Amino acid sequence: MARILITSALPYINGIKHLGNLVGSQLPADLYARYMRARGHEVMFICATDEHGTPAELAAAKAGKPVAAYCAEMHRVQAELAQGFGLSFDFYGRSSSARNHALTQHLARQLGEAGLISVITERQMYSPADGRFLPDRYIEGTCPNCGYERARGDQCEECTKQLDPTDLINPRSAISGSTDLELRETRHLFLRQSALRETLDKWIDSQTGWPVLTTSIAKKWLHDGDGLQDRGITRDLDWGVPAQFDGAPWEGMEGKVFYVWFDAPIEYIAATAEWADAQGLDDSAWQRWWRTDQGADDVRYVEFMGKDNVPFHTLSFPATLIGSGEPWKLVDYIKSFNYLNYDGGQFSTSQGRGVFMDQALDLLPADYWRWWLLSHAPENSDSEFTWENFQASVNKDLADVLGNLVSRVTKFCRAKFGAVVPAGGDCGPLEDRLIADLEAGLRSYQTAMDAMMVRRSAQDLRALWVLGNEYLQEAAPWSTFKSDPDRAAAQIRMALNLIRVYAVISQPFIPGAAARIMEAMACDDWSWPGDLRAALGALPQGHGFDVPDVLFAKITDDQRTEWAERFAGTRS
Ligand code: MF3
Ligand code: ZN
Repeated sequence: MARILITSALPYINGIKHLGNLVGSQLPADLYARYMRARGHEVMFICATDEHGTPAELAAAKAGKPVAAYCAEMHRVQAELAQGFGLSFDFYGRSSSARNHALTQHLARQLGEAGLISVITERQMYSPADGRFLPDRYIEGTCPNCGYERARGDQCEECTKQLDPTDLINPRSAISGSTDLELRETRHLFLRQSALRETLDKWIDSQTGWPVLTTSIAKKWLHDGDGLQDRGITRDLDWGVPAQFDGAPWEGMEGKVFYVWFDAPIEYIAATAEWADAQGLDDSAWQRWWRTDQGADDVRYVEFMGKDNVPFHTLSFPATLIGSGEPWKLVDYIKSFNYLNYDGGQFSTSQGRGVFMDQALDLLPADYWRWWLLSHAPENSDSEFTWENFQASVNKDLADVLGNLVSRVTKFCRAKFGAVVPAGGDCGPLEDRLIADLEAGLRSYQTAMDAMMVRRSAQDLRALWVLGNEYLQEAAPWSTFKSDPDRAAAQIRMALNLIRVYAVISQPFIPGAAARIMEAMACDDWSWPGDLRAALGALPQGHGFDVPDVLFAKITDDQRTEWAERFAGTRS
């Protein structure tokens, strides 16, 4: 049994997330967490809302609410939606927590003592019209790297380049739109990342198994120089972790806060401490996940995120942890995703384009979305959501293949043998072949899941469902029944057991349907089918069951057209 620490990139607090956000980190992280638990490993799955910085302040201002109240409210909303999607976090924290304040200030102090922080006077964009400095997302303009016109002061969404507000071409205030901007002097703490360049380079080289997308982004920013410039880690903002320690402001940092990208990843650790607090456990409970001097050397730590987050997780966050000189657990594997597009364009929070988590759950149960999103995860390239594709995959994979099998088998059994696992008859060569095929298919599925190959895993799982259908087609118990009812009984017994096995192995993808199948089978044995032949005998002869209600309803053409129209515009 291994110990696996899993973090999903923290969703910004600034509104309800769309399906593109969901499939880029939280959902695949959940798939992996569920799978690893099902395989018997000890899992700590952590997420939280990312509550600081200009995204939070801008959204609160737009909602006309004080930022603290806005964050509390949106945290609740996002936590509820996460639950609605079946995201099985061990803890869903808040980056504004007391734990994160304390840990962020602690790490900054450590970095300071290691000589890795300098105080720098620099010139920052100031807007006389707004009466304030405009850090990060308070400023927008054209990306000097790729020409994207809505790049933000901290990063270009389009090409993932990290930016400074002063890099932008034709800059304008995101608050007032004012282009009357000037440079004014202000003092900030800088993290001397450049001093850690060689250490980081070596560390990345030692991470042999990383996916290409991750390593190439990391190496690019490391060697093009840009990613490892010394970076300002404080901002002229009110909301955030105050740039101080032990209660005293860092000299010259009065009234300033740490940069959101400095404190947000630290919340992975702090949220685990929040978890321990909530459980009434002491510090050793979270430290065994995060401190290599407390046993975390045995932990395998996997991070999930969208590609725009990669530079922060391969360079900035490790720089914080390594630079602190303390024995923090570093990431072992980064699983990163490309973007999901929406019907010919981009999903966009700022423009309200696409389907958002609350809207999705209003239309259909979470499993429908989970299945489509995971089986179309943007792994090797960007992928696209279309209503046609969604309809086809729900109707074919879920309704026709899995749902139909469950319904046919349980109904046939009830009609001919009563709602119990029938007795009598023996297995023959057909069943032997089925088991051999299932064994091979299951091995392939496990290999894909272990490797976090999300799409491949979905294909393998579907192929396992198909084997059941093919078996049923060939065994044809409805005709066997007429000549040899005992043989039909053995076939149905096999099929009922197979349905239970499907619930177990499908649970990471479609936990809701899996639970309903298990309930119908009147069974609570979720153990992974290590020995498939034995697992296919778990429901004994005479065991009662219910016929479940329709597991997956097909999406009609009318629904599809209506939804496509309803979600064609933008959300207000
Ligand atoms: N909120 C960021 C985003 O949505 C991700 C933060 S990940 C963390 O892009 F590690 F910094 F928390
Ligand atoms: Zn760009």
